[in-house]
Amino acid sequence: MADKKAQLIIEGAAPIDLPVYSGTMGPDVVDVRALGSSGYFTFDPGFMATSSCESKITYIDGDKGILLHRGYPIEQLAEKSDFLETCYLLLKGELPDAEQKSKFVETVQKHTMVHEQLKNFLNGFRRDAHPMAVMCGIVGALSAFYHDSLDINDAKHREVSAIRLIAKMPTIAAMVYKYSKGEPVIYPRNDLSYSENFLHMMFNTPCEEKKISPVLARAMDRIFVLHADHEQNASTSTVRLAGSSGANPFACIAAGIAALWGPAHGGANEAVLRMLDEIGDVSNIEKFIAKAKDKDDPFKLMGFGHRVYKNFDPRAKVMKQTCDEVLGELGINDPQLELAMKLEEIARNDPYFVERNLYPNVDFYSGIILKAIGIPTEMFTVIFAAGRTPGWIAHWNEMISGPYKIGRPRQLYTGYPQRDYPSK
Ligand code: ACO
Repeated sequence: MADKKAQLIIEGAAPIDLPVYSGTMGPDVVDVRALGSSGYFTFDPGFMATSSCESKITYIDGDKGILLHRGYPIEQLAEKSDFLETCYLLLKGELPDAEQKSKFVETVQKHTMVHEQLKNFLNGFRRDAHPMAVMCGIVGALSAFYHDSLDINDAKHREVSAIRLIAKMPTIAAMVYKYSKGEPVIYPRNDLSYSENFLHMMFNTPCEEKKISPVLARAMDRIFVLHADHEQNASTSTVRLAGSSGANPFACIAAGIAALWGPAHGGANEAVLRMLDEIGDVSNIEKFIAKAKDKDDPFKLMGFGHRVYKNFDPRAKVMKQTCDEVLGELGINDPQLELAMKLEEIARNDPYFVERNLYPNVDFYSGIILKAIGIPTEMFTVIFAAGRTPGWIAHWNEMISGPYKIGRPRQLYTGYPQRDYPSK
């Protein structure tokens, strides 16, 4: 329902009335859908001011550093909830009661194994392949294994696919890691929590089963919770766009994984560690800060800045606290982590970064925590993908459950006008 009206006046044309809608929170939106029939399109590369959909899942206020899932602040979810409960919340809209939660956890646990034949797929990849390349392939291939739940118009099928994806993502991630190391795949254990099980599949071997540290399992769970959703970011929008054509959920999530891989998005946590390698030593920080400020130099401080959070990233606050806990638990004395902390301190006080509101984002700290836990750099974005899976599915499901149209943006064409093929 339109609460207000806007009028667009274009020189030489009749004014165009456009409805304006108000959400529960956030800026009002001008509905420009009628513009096309008046012979105009809007132009907004990078979607700087475009709402691509209506959604009830996540709310972000970038200026105030607010992130809410179904109304609940991320800080409270990180402290009081856990990943599977957050998944339930994102998917179903409400927190589960005790019975609903244990049933949900049990259902996820029953789906943690993957089809044994998926290992054949794994064997087709080079062992030195980037894990994200393997993830894209394997997750896309799930639709070839679980085609009993691919009717996107059937709510039950959508639910089964959602559970399968949430349950199998850590198993696939750990399989990809073990394959890269040449170690045997470790099967999931349903007596462990979601995050303990992930660390078990990553670090245990058939010869040695170590007890998972509760501090590290909690840190892992927080990383998953803090990445669970972030409204219409590049990968989620990719999932929605792919889904709008009627593609199956596994194919859509594979598309999301591909979009997440880029260093401006989920690839940033890996890029943080590569940058620390490049900087090498605390004595080089000043030189690299100068490079980051130099407009002619492509170098950027990875893990700093965010498209939406122009004040602070609320997830980064929680992640920093977890980072301190993990480093304390492990008693780590790694020069690279010291370098990261020094870099953070300098950048936080440098006018260039302060004036542009370039604060450390969630990836800055998650990269440091994952390194401390012993997870190799190439696996960082894979873990982000596992954490973001419930968000991707919740958005995909929200779109499919309501009326939707295939996503088809228009363009401002600046190429040649029509011309004739030259005669020979
Ligand atoms: N280092 C140095 N300068 C930067 C950085 C950075 N990390 N980020 C932005 N700037 C500068 C820009 O050069 C620009 O300067 P100017 O105003 O003098 O031209 C200004 O800050 C504004 O930056 P934009 O690029 O316009 O901001 P935008 O919103 O388009 O980009 C982005 C946000 C992509 C995250 C950017 O800050 C960046 O590339 N950061 C590093 C990569 C990163 O950490 N990505 C993770 C994002 S979080 C996530 O995906 C979970």
